[in-house]
Formats: sequence, C-alpha cells, structure tokens
Amino acid sequence: MNNKKFIFAIIVNALFTGILLLGSSAFAADLKAGGNIYKSKCAMCHGEQGQGGGAVKINDPKVLSKTDKEIRQVIAEGAKGMPGYQKLLKPEEMDSLMAFLRSWGNK
Ligand code: HEC
Repeated sequence: MNNKKFIFAIIVNALFTGILLLGSSAFAADLKAGGNIYKSKCAMCHGEQGQGGGAVKINDPKVLSKTDKEIRQVIAEGAKGMPGYQKLLKPEEMDSLMAFLRSWGNK
C-alpha cells in the first residue's frame, strides 16, 4: 500500500468510527431519557424494573412478547386502571420509553 492510499484508508476508518460512536451515543441517550420517563410516569404502578407492585408486572414475557405497536397502543390509550399517555408524551418521548421497555427483553 502506498502512502496516499494508507492515509485515505485511515480517514475513511475515522469517519466510520465517528458515525458509529454518534449512533450509539444517541441510542444511549434514548435509553436514559426513556428510563427517566418510566421512573416519573410508570414506576409508581409497575415498579422500578417493571416487576409490578401497585399494578401488573410488565417486565414479563407475556407483555414483552407483544409487538411495539400493541405496547404503544396500551400506553397511548391506557387500560383498566391505567391512564392514557397519548397527550402527555411527545412522539420522541414515546420512542425513548419504548427503547427503555425493550431493554428488559425483546419480542
Ligand atoms: C395508575 C397506575 C398506572 C400507571 C401510572 C401506569 N400503568 Fe400501565 N397498567 C396499569 C394497570 C392497572 C394495567 C392493567 C390493565 C388491565 O388489566 O387491562 C396496566 C397495563 C399496562 C400494560 C399492558 C400489560 C399487559 O398485560 O399487556 C403496559 C405495557 C403498561 N401498563 C405500561 C405502562 C407504562 C409504560 C406506563 C408509563 C407511561 C404505565 N403503564 C403507567 C396501571 C398503571
């Protein structure tokens, strides 16, 4: 490999690394924001880690096996004994909250 090619390869590499880092830190921020939303709006009924307490356990395969769409619908519209959050959460807050719930397990 001659010098020019070598330098080019390093630059390309640095760019890709930068993009990857940016992407993963955005995801980490999402998770953190989602965790905070969960703590302030959901934990008093479903427990800090979704283990239940005041209301049903949601850190459970029975719930986490549902699709994102189904879970989002419950959160938006509420259920028996649970308020709807459609008007209380911005779309990006809903996304962060979903990312946080998914950190417990995947469908
Ligand atoms: C006032 C208490 C309360 C709060 C606050 C609350 N929930 Fe609930 N939630 C409930 C109850 C009660 C149910 C069970 C409803 C039913 O039996 O149909 C439920 C059901 C659910 C379900 C569906 C469980 C299933 O079996 O499919 C999900 C998902 C859920 N809640 C997520 C959340 C999230 C996320 C938040 C915060 C944005 C939240 N809840 C806030 C009381 C609450």
